[in-house]
Amino acid sequence: MESSFGLLLVLITLAAIIHIVQAQDQQGFISLDCGRSANAPSPYKDTQTGLWYSSDNEFIQSGKTGQVRENPNYNREQYLTLRYFPKGKRNCYNLSVEKGRKYLIRAVFLYGNYDGLRINPVFDLYLGPNRLATIDFETRVNGTWENYIHIPTSNSLQLCLVKTGETTPLISGLDLRPLGKDSYITKSGSLRLYYIFFFRTNHGKPIPDIQYPDDVYDRIWNPYFQTVLTQISTTLEVNNSNNYVPPKEALKNAATPSNASAPLTMEWTPLDPNDQYYLYAHFAEIQELKENETREFNIVWNGEVMSTVVPKKLEVSTIYDQSPRTCEKGKCSIQLIRTKRSTLPPLINAFEVYLVIELPQSETYERDVVGIKEIEATYALGRINWQGDPCVPQDLRWDGLNCRDTNISMHPRITALNLSSSGLNGIIVAAIQSLTQLETLDLSNNNLTGGVPEFLGNMKSLSFINLSGNNLTGSIPQALQKKGLKLSVGGNPRLCLSDPCRKPPKKNVLVPIVASVVPAAILIIAVLILFLVLKKKKSTVRQGPHRMSTGEVTFANKNSKRRFTYSEVIQMTNNFQRVLGKGGFGMVYHGTVNGSEQVAVKVLSQSSTQGYKEFKAEVDLLLRVHHTNLVSLVGYCDEGDHLALIYEYVPNGDLRQHLSGKGGKTIVINWGTRLRIAAEAALGLEYLHIGCTPPIVHRDVKTTNILLDEQYKAKLADFGLSRSFPVGGDSHVSTVIAGTPGYLDPEYYHTSRLGEKSDVYSFGIVLLEMISNQPVIDRNRAKSHITQWVGSQLNGGDIAKIMDPKLNGDYDSRSAWRALELAMSCADPTSVKRPTMSHVVIELKECLVTENSRRNMSRGMDSLSSPEVSMIFDSEMTPRAR
Ligand SMILES: *[C@@H]1O[C@H](CO)[C@@H](O)[C@H](O)[C@H]1NC(C)=O
Ligand SMILES: *[C@@H]1O[C@H](CO)[C@@H](O)[C@H](O)[C@H]1NC(C)=O
Ligand SMILES: *[C@@H]1O[C@H](CO)[C@@H](O)[C@H](O)[C@H]1NC(C)=O
Ligand SMILES: *[C@@H]1O[C@H](CO)[C@@H](O)[C@H](O)[C@H]1NC(C)=O
Ligand SMILES: *[C@@H]1O[C@H](CO)[C@@H](O)[C@H](O)[C@H]1NC(C)=O
Ligand SMILES: *[C@@H]1O[C@H](CO)[C@@H](O)[C@H](O)[C@H]1NC(C)=O
Ligand SMILES: *[C@@H]1O[C@H](CO)[C@@H](O)[C@H](O)[C@H]1NC(C)=O
Ligand SMILES: *[C@@H]1O[C@H](CO)[C@@H](O)[C@H](O)[C@H]1NC(C)=O
Ligand SMILES: *[C@@H]1O[C@H](CO)[C@@H](O)[C@H](O)[C@H]1NC(C)=O
Ligand SMILES: *[C@@H]1O[C@H](CO)[C@@H](O)[C@H](O)[C@H]1NC(C)=O
Repeated sequence: MESSFGLLLVLITLAAIIHIVQAQDQQGFISLDCGRSANAPSPYKDTQTGLWYSSDNEFIQSGKTGQVRENPNYNREQYLTLRYFPKGKRNCYNLSVEKGRKYLIRAVFLYGNYDGLRINPVFDLYLGPNRLATIDFETRVNGTWENYIHIPTSNSLQLCLVKTGETTPLISGLDLRPLGKDSYITKSGSLRLYYIFFFRTNHGKPIPDIQYPDDVYDRIWNPYFQTVLTQISTTLEVNNSNNYVPPKEALKNAATPSNASAPLTMEWTPLDPNDQYYLYAHFAEIQELKENETREFNIVWNGEVMSTVVPKKLEVSTIYDQSPRTCEKGKCSIQLIRTKRSTLPPLINAFEVYLVIELPQSETYERDVVGIKEIEATYALGRINWQGDPCVPQDLRWDGLNCRDTNISMHPRITALNLSSSGLNGIIVAAIQSLTQLETLDLSNNNLTGGVPEFLGNMKSLSFINLSGNNLTGSIPQALQKKGLKLSVGGNPRLCLSDPCRKPPKKNVLVPIVASVVPAAILIIAVLILFLVLKKKKSTVRQGPHRMSTGEVTFANKNSKRRFTYSEVIQMTNNFQRVLGKGGFGMVYHGTVNGSEQVAVKVLSQSSTQGYKEFKAEVDLLLRVHHTNLVSLVGYCDEGDHLALIYEYVPNGDLRQHLSGKGGKTIVINWGTRLRIAAEAALGLEYLHIGCTPPIVHRDVKTTNILLDEQYKAKLADFGLSRSFPVGGDSHVSTVIAGTPGYLDPEYYHTSRLGEKSDVYSFGIVLLEMISNQPVIDRNRAKSHITQWVGSQLNGGDIAKIMDPKLNGDYDSRSAWRALELAMSCADPTSVKRPTMSHVVIELKECLVTENSRRNMSRGMDSLSSPEVSMIFDSEMTPRAR
């Protein structure tokens, strides 16, 4: 077999790829010059390829930059600098890619004695949670490059360098090149480049590699030749259009066996006998054949015929496998054997071999990753070990996390987050709720402020929360008072343990879990105990049983602090200078307390009070109500004839104005924001109904009572006063029946029995208004009441006829239908058929999720995006001066 030549397992060295060239068409190309000095211009145009190279600064947060000192045969700018990683076991590049697209990934490593130590480093290269290769400068003293063909499973690609011994990992260059989707298809796994050759004799002179722009994908083809081969060439153009687009430059030359009757044989020895290969052989006839000449040959793999080839004239044919091949008896051999009828020897123009690499370990569930990243960013954690995949591999798992990863083919999930004693500042971040399988949350011994967010209570798997030793305020949301949830909140001196406030615990108190349905007997006992406590304290405040009834219930009478004199009211309103509006009870003025806190001051006309005592009792109760979606009462004034209520100032007007476009509110609130506002208002109402003891019925839910702040966050106003004040601007409304026409529960009207379900009815009307932007009552309309109007339109089955035309059809119709059905069930004339506010909240949240996922998919953010991107259910409790 004289015409055969053996291909040794060539260790492709940097020396062999001196001329890395790239392209004009740089769509999706990422070209990083690792460790490029911050002072050097970036990006810069590579002289050989015309590709723009950038510093790697933006793609990695860690590592130091170094400069090659010795580099015998290498001088490309990209590889003269490098980044090395003295700190941390794993350091990762985070590259933005297109999920599902095929990429060529090339990482280049050149040590060049940058540290003057002359110690060749050894370390591992990882792609996400999977090890790709060991980079071993002991055996590859001149450096090495690694090429992979891989389809990312998410929109970011984590390429990590992992320390495996004493030496320091480093990297010189990193390139990403998108490939065509119909090439290099594998049954499973990704590919690692083994050989990539074109056939060209060198006649003693070095032949440059072929790369971009000659290769559109910026593959780097090495020249190869052996004495047993004879070269043939053409000066004519060779058509290279197929899925692989081998460079025309490479196809211009071909090798044939020097002994024309012998086969052309290529052989190598696999490192591992189980290695699986994909071969890609490119053929084009580049000789002018005579009439009586033919060239035909078989491609034979380890003795088995793969296919028969007749190269096309000046046009490429690529022969490849559908399934990977393995080598038998420790030898891989591919032969081109001319057929009997062929008058010419076989030929080959270019050849590629790839090794199959399985990446079996699944990455951590994507939304968990996004969530934990957001948590990291919010608290500026910057932990050196928080790089790469959070959960896997297990030995590189991030500090403070625990994960469930029972099976490598399933995405690991984060089950525990322990940021105890991590110096956290700010509020408890809403991103925690992205970790939907979280079981344990330890945020103890930090400096967290703000409220205990309600979402923690809605996380189904969460069974242990330690918030001890922080600076939290507000109260503990109802949602957290449930069975099976262990909650520690000790050492938060400003935290109330119930609503209204209970005395803060002295020690680390484990809030006991009371089943949501308290057995009647317990309830009665609780009422009794409370009754006694109340008596003892001689409190005049009306109180019902507390749901969390351990510890002493106190009614710290700090209300005096919130009681203002009439002269203070005059001062804070600057003598009633700025009128904000006219409410049911009187005029509302703008004011300022403590120099900066803006307030809305409601001056009550005496005549509207039903009973002063009742008013006082209710005010005392309301002063203790705190919820992020309720306008909080800052204080009050009752001096002689002067009664005033001082509220938190909500700057952005009311929902009615925003829907109607009046009062200068011309921006149309989009559907997603409407759903969020509805959900927030519903949360506020739910809190009044089930989070307060005794439950508070709002009695006057309507769009003008839903106020919005700058972030379009909803805050419900004017609750709880209707018992002592008649409400509604309409003077004809009887003082017995409280409420606003159109919003008033018809059942209440008939029975005069007012309960939570009356609020649900009114909320249903609000929701119908938000959906349709129709007047609640329109005498000029055949169906004057909004429920009748919607009901008649519903028969048509066309949601577009019901939806607010201002929305321009920009809504997810599933969420629209669902919201509409919800609104109609709320507005059911029979109270027992109406849902509870808790149910309404759940429904609206789900509508919102549907709508948000549609928006995220369909396009970017529109002009009203800021309220939309703000956290959905931020349950921060705003502490008020007491
Ligand atoms: C990677 O970068 C993208 C933006 O390019 C960012 O959205 C993503 O969160 C980052 N991922 C990690 C794990 O850092
Ligand atoms: C490294 O480069 C030097 C100089 O070109 C060469 O002599 C040596 O053989 C190369 N070593 C390897 C392992 O390729
Ligand atoms: C190259 O070949 C393809 C496919 O056979 C053909 O569609 C194309 O027109 C050819 N290009 C040239 C320049 O001849
Ligand atoms: C050429 O190859 C054929 C078939 O392998 C062999 O029989 C013949 O001896 C070879 N000729 C020379 C000159 O080596
Ligand atoms: C083909 O034809 C040419 C003359 O056109 C002749 O010289 C040559 O020997 C023939 N070759 C074969 C293999 O028949
Ligand atoms: C992993 O779990 C999936 C689904 O439960 C199952 O189909 C698969 O066989 C498991 N794989 C292994 C390696 O256990
Ligand atoms: C969280 O970590 C701290 C110390 O790092 C440890 O004392 C504490 O027990 C951990 N919390 C949980 C819930 O495991
Ligand atoms: C906690 O936060 C408050 C307010 O931001 C700050 O004044 C205080 O210094 C912080 N304490 C610690 C221990 O970081
Ligand atoms: C909560 O954290 C505090 C401070 O780290 C600790 O003292 C306490 O034991 C923890 N509570 C529980 C129930 O683990
Ligand atoms: C808690 O927060 C308040 C207000 O931000 C601050 O004045 C106080 O110093 C904080 N307490 C601690 C212990 O950090």
